Amino acid sequence: MKYMPTVLPKDIDKYFYDRKKYIKQINTNLEMLELDIANQFLITGYRGVGKTALTKKIISNQPDKFLTTYVDISKIFAKKKGKPTEEEILKEILKKINKTLLKRENILKRTKDNILNSINKLKLKDYKFENNDSLLDIPLPDIEDNYDKLSEFVMELPQQIVDSNKNIKGYIIVIDEFQLIQYVENPEAFFWLIRSYTQEQYNVSYIFTGSASKTAEIINMINGQTGAFGGRMMQIDLKPFTKEETKTYIEKYSNNIRFNEEGFEQFYKCTRGIPAYINSFCNILPNNEICTPEILKNKLLLNTDQIAVIWLDVWGKLSENEKEIIKLLIDKKQLSWTELMNETGYSKATVSKYISLLNNKGIIEFSNKKYVLTDKMLKTWLKNKEKMEGQYPE
Ligand SMILES: Nc1ncnc2c1ncn2[C@@H]1O[C@H](COP(=O)(O)OP(=O)(O)OP(=O)(O)O)[C@@H](O)[C@H]1O
Ligand SMILES: [Mg+2]
Repeated sequence: MKYMPTVLPKDIDKYFYDRKKYIKQINTNLEMLELDIANQFLITGYRGVGKTALTKKIISNQPDKFLTTYVDISKIFAKKKGKPTEEEILKEILKKINKTLLKRENILKRTKDNILNSINKLKLKDYKFENNDSLLDIPLPDIEDNYDKLSEFVMELPQQIVDSNKNIKGYIIVIDEFQLIQYVENPEAFFWLIRSYTQEQYNVSYIFTGSASKTAEIINMINGQTGAFGGRMMQIDLKPFTKEETKTYIEKYSNNIRFNEEGFEQFYKCTRGIPAYINSFCNILPNNEICTPEILKNKLLLNTDQIAVIWLDVWGKLSENEKEIIKLLIDKKQLSWTELMNETGYSKATVSKYISLLNNKGIIEFSNKKYVLTDKMLKTWLKNKEKMEGQYPE
């Protein structure tokens, strides 16, 4: 039976459709690592459009001469209550590099010696050993109050690994959900830190991706004119599937879902070509009849929770003020800065804070001098909830 996954499947290749143009563009630029040219990437796009799927697909299909590591910043968030620190992010990167190395342990003997050497050097200075962290079974130093040393060690490690292995020509590191870096104490300094190391590393490419709006401050912070990378990152906006792509995708991968013409138009209008919605919508559509707009409407209303599942978790984590702004935008469709202040009664600073948070999360965007909700499905889900349950979800 065919299946359209609503969470990322382990076997990416099996369910992955197309994106050839993006893969080619990114791979062409990654291949330059072998020529000592390290491109840096920033991949943006709507929630559920397939950023994680694309980056995982790309790194899982790299040749052996390139090492790859995937780091999901949201994992750090999930594990703790408060905000993560710069140290925790660096440690997570280190942990994931370690995982990569363990998979290739045989050929990385030299790396191990080298790492051991550099750790030993560090140890002579001001490090203590701690038992619970290790890299290739080498116990790692106690790094709590040695941020400078830790950052140097982690940031130099990928290049060091390439330099010590003649069979390894490059290192690719994906930082997913990078927008969460905004919550560390000094995100700007953190991006500058990464930038300063990448400048001297000719064989390490970073791919940053996450669901921030294109107009988000965090995008500016990393790659804007005055941002750390100052526009030098290759910025790629991953687009939803076009109508044609959506049609072909469903023909090829769905379990015989069919539409009449108006039905398909309606389906595309609802999902906007976003794979997360296409997959979850197709999963609840009947496969023994031709779907008409009426069938779609019914199914959508009865199953918004399932189709809008990507918002459940996001909504649950928003503050009351953020929810308030979203509800206002549902009612009024679009609001200017001043209108938002008048409608909420919040101070300038408060509006500014929550607008920025929502923008960085890809929930609202700034268009024609007004703020609007980025995703209609969020609106559909919330309105439907209100209708069925008499109030917006908690
Ligand atoms: N090219 C594709 N072919 C088939 N399915 C896809 C494709 N891209 C994404 N999907 C599916 O769509 C869903 C959402 O994809 P993914 O998690 O990669 O989106 P995202 O852009 O990373 O979302 P978020 O912003 O929430 O992190 C997943 O279930 C994934 O399997
Ligand atoms: Mg993702």
